Amino acid sequence: MEIKYQLVKEKKAKPDPSTLGFGRIFTDHMFMMDYTPDKGWHDARIVPFGPLSIHPACTALHYGSEIFEGLKAYRRADGKVQLFRPTENIRRMNNSAERLCLPQIPEDLALEILLAFVRTEEDWTPSAPGTSLYLRPFMFGNDENLGVHSVHHATFLIIASPVGSYYKEGINPVKIMIEDQDVRAVRGGTGYAKCGGNYAASNRAGARAEEKGYSQVLWLDGVERKYIEEVGAMNVMFKIGGEIVTPMLSGSILPGVTRKSCIEILKKEGYKVSERLLSVDELAAAMKDGTLEEAWGCGTAAVVSPIGELCYKNVKYTVNGGKIGEVTQHLYDTLTGIQWGKIADPFGWTLPVDVD
Ligand code: PLP
Ligand code: COI
Repeated sequence: MEIKYQLVKEKKAKPDPSTLGFGRIFTDHMFMMDYTPDKGWHDARIVPFGPLSIHPACTALHYGSEIFEGLKAYRRADGKVQLFRPTENIRRMNNSAERLCLPQIPEDLALEILLAFVRTEEDWTPSAPGTSLYLRPFMFGNDENLGVHSVHHATFLIIASPVGSYYKEGINPVKIMIEDQDVRAVRGGTGYAKCGGNYAASNRAGARAEEKGYSQVLWLDGVERKYIEEVGAMNVMFKIGGEIVTPMLSGSILPGVTRKSCIEILKKEGYKVSERLLSVDELAAAMKDGTLEEAWGCGTAAVVSPIGELCYKNVKYTVNGGKIGEVTQHLYDTLTGIQWGKIADPFGWTLPVDVD
């Protein structure tokens, strides 16, 4: 597909890498294209980053038809930029689109677009330790009509933001509260899709946790409120009595690319990894009797984040003395080593972006 370029005359100054945080600064351009049933995807363009003009009856504003993805471009030590498993994100985006009745983007077209956009914004990929260029593809229903029906017109965009760590704690352990009132998703719902509505429904519990000094909540399943699901912006893993346990993909949690990668790294190295149901009672018992050795979250934004404290029904449990555990540190080093090109990538997960 032909992409039209309308490039800025003057680029913005690049930020000081020590001030990046997450998702506050945006690059010079954004990618956009539109979908209609008669033309399919059309009018692909890279234009100056800026506000959108949206009809007040736009479907996304009223009925929440919106999906998104999150992946990163990494600056390697040799100066080149690379992506990490972009096809996984493209496939998940199409699964989310299918759930929300938004149009599919063929995999090869989505990759071509992503690469063209990253090439344009390549100079925004920071090189300081712990930094990267976060890419946020998203799609929304854009019918100008208040009837409730599946979407006919859609818009797809990619924006990019140079980022440091997601949590203010960086690689230091975060405190997480186990939520026993609100639920995030149920089987048959949209939990496995990366759609804005899931996050809107999470905000109330997240705000309550933040008020109490916790970074995010750990969700329980929406039916029995018994099984561990995932954290607000990351999947979770535990080391209990030597076994690595992570909730199985039940349909109500996001199938994280980082989760999948951590499992593959750990299995390759001979760890026992179980994707299974993990009840909050089993976790609480392991916290009490000391068999919970480590806990961490994993996600593109969060990378591998140690969990140093878990709170359940007002009881606080310290994990591994509030320090990062051995497996968590090893996973962080291995995953980021591959992502930043510091160590060999035996899995073939990285995709260098050639810049002319
Ligand atoms: N779970 C939720 C709710 C998330 O928002 C994310 C972040 O994308 C993840 C898990 C981790 O997914 P991934 O590793 O693909 O970024
Ligand atoms: C990501 O890790 O890419 C996410 O989407 C998490 C988030 C900031 C919602």
